[in-house]
Order: sequence, then structure tokens, then C-alpha cells
Amino acid sequence: MAAIPFGDMKRQYAALRPELDAAAARVLASGWYILGPEVRAFEEAFAAYCGAAYCVGVGNGTEALYLAMVALGVGPGDEVITVANAAVYEPLTILQTGARPVFVDVDARTHTLDPALLEAAITPRTRALMPVHLYGRMADMAAIIAIAERHQLPIIEDCAQAHGAAFGGQRAGSIGACGCFSFYPSKNLGALGDGGAVVTNDPELAERLRTLREYGWSPRYYLVAPNGINSRLDELQAALLHAKLPHLDGWNARRRAIARRYNELLAGLPLALPELPIDDAEHIFHLYVVATPRREQLQASLQERGVGAVVHYPLPAHLQPIYQGLAAPGSLPVTERLAHEVLSLPIYPELTDDEVDAVAAAVREALA
Ligand SMILES: Cc1ncc(COP(=O)(O)O)c(C=O)c1O
Repeated sequence: MAAIPFGDMKRQYAALRPELDAAAARVLASGWYILGPEVRAFEEAFAAYCGAAYCVGVGNGTEALYLAMVALGVGPGDEVITVANAAVYEPLTILQTGARPVFVDVDARTHTLDPALLEAAITPRTRALMPVHLYGRMADMAAIIAIAERHQLPIIEDCAQAHGAAFGGQRAGSIGACGCFSFYPSKNLGALGDGGAVVTNDPELAERLRTLREYGWSPRYYLVAPNGINSRLDELQAALLHAKLPHLDGWNARRRAIARRYNELLAGLPLALPELPIDDAEHIFHLYVVATPRREQLQASLQERGVGAVVHYPLPAHLQPIYQGLAAPGSLPVTERLAHEVLSLPIYPELTDDEVDAVAAAVREALA
């Protein structure tokens, strides 16, 4: 059997080469490379795609989270509630603002913030809520919004894995105070380098974000904010992202079709499969994640059979040695169990049905 890599960025480039080459050539010849017409055009298109009024392009998804918090006034002495199962992007940036991350466990079925545990984590110091739409599935925004409204707390949606995902018909990023996106190359909408964005319906928040992404200048060379950074989406990435955007819905549909096929082929195995939501248009399957206590064995067997499978993520934030003291080991039991059990199988739009079948067959053999 031919090897099936976990990801293969060359396939997408090959499929879109004329469009991407033309976009890149246009920017190279333009003589304007940072914050120009390409960024403005992409911001407008991506805001419209998300169903939000504004989009502010930034350097990457991590800086999008940092800038969103600073723009909302998060700082020293504050607490921001988030989850611990999405690598460390959230606690890292919360700590950068001077605030303290407070972790809530996740729902075992959806791997997203468990709203039943949210209210108990709110204190007088809580300044914002940061749910993560992990693997392409949105957190339970209805329940989270109800709690946020009761406590008058802004929601910062981490949409880095949720380009085009929706909840109750509303797209990721358009529901909370703002939504933060990463355009890391392997994302559902990926740049050919780093990129990120914050989308929002709030004109004042958008204006503050524009100031903060460029040192804190307003106007140019006049500093009005002490905690700005240099975090600009560049013209080249904006042009490439804009060329890719019309393909996003088709890619997301293909990812859902692959997920459905995996679910059919893997049914009956001792393996927790991702649930296909009733309206499956809402899940965009950035990752297809199964769970089993025999994860290490499964991953090793797949590797022997040439199938790439990756753990997202092996060490929850509160168990990172460097974050000792943020939350006690054992305090997030679902997060901790899933970290030992989750395994992501290959899922990208260019994966062929034959490859999906081969991956599923390899999983069956490995668990036989
Ligand atoms: C959930 C989540 N949040 C934030 C980020 C950070 O984005 P970036 O890598 O663009 O900084 C990522 C991706 O890397 C992510 O998956």
C-alpha cells in the first residue's frame, strides 16, 4: 500500500497553481507588500464569509488571540476562562496580557468547553470567556452565550480550527464579541506562510484592533496604546488567501464527506468516533479525531502500515511543567483522559476515497 501522509500541502497547491501563481505575481509586481489593497480586499471578503461586519488581518492566530484580549481591556489582575485541551495557544496569550488563565473541563462527546462547568469558574475577576471550536466543531454557543450574558462577559471565539463552521446557522467568529482565526497552512483556509485575523461586528473593537496590530499607532507614528505589537497580515498572504476563499465551502463539504465515510467504515470497532451533528453543515472537520485507550498501539500500527496519524494534543496545558500551579493535576479529568486517547486520522479535501478506504482498513487491521 502507498504511504498516506497525515497532511500533504503540495496537493492543494497543485490543484490551484494557476490562481495562486497569478495572485503571487500580482503582489510581487505591485511594489506594496504590507497592509495594502490586497489585505483590505481579503478582510472585506472574509468578514462577509463569516457573517461579520469587520475583519482585521494580523500576523497569525496566536497574535489574534492576544490582540483580541488587549482590545477588550483584558490585563493584569483579570481572569480569562478557557480550556486546556488545545495545545497552549490560549493560556500562552492570556498570560501575555498579564491575566490568569482559568481552565474549565471539556465535554467528552464534543471535546469543547463544557458549559455545565462554566458558571462555577466565574469570579469577580473574570474578564472574558475563550471557548475553542476544536477540530472544526463549534462549542455549545447557545449555552455559553446564556451564561456570558448573565455575567456580562465578552466571548472571544477561538476559531483557528473552524473556518466556515456554524452553530444555529451562525458562522464561527460572528457570535461572540469577536472570533480569532489562524491561517496556518494546514488550516481549512490556509496561507502559504503565517497569517491570522480577528472578525467582529463591533466597529470600535475593530478600530482598536487596527491600532493594536500596528504598534499602537493612531495615526501613523503617534502612539495611543501601550500594549500594541507588530502583527500585520502581509499583501502576499492576503492575496493567496483571497484566491483560496471561494474554494473553502467545497473543501469543507469534502471534509464532511470523508468524515461520514470514515464513520461508516469504522463503525463497530472499539473506538470512539466523532459524532456527525444532526445538521452536519455545522462541523467542518479540520481534524478527524478518534479515541481509544489503545491509542499508542493504534498509532504505531498505522505508522507501520504507512498511514500518518497525529495526537492533538498529548499534554494538556495545565500539565505542562512550565504552567505548574495554574490547575491541579486531576482537576480536569475529561481533558486528561482524552489526552491519552485521541488520535487524528488523515483528513484533507484532496484525500481520495481509495485512500480513505485504505486508512480505515489499516485501522481495522490494527485493532483486530
Ligand atoms: C485552536 C488554535 N488556536 C490558536 C492557534 C494559533 O494559530 P497560529 O499557529 O496561527 O499562531 C491554533 C493553530 O495553530 C489553533 O489550532
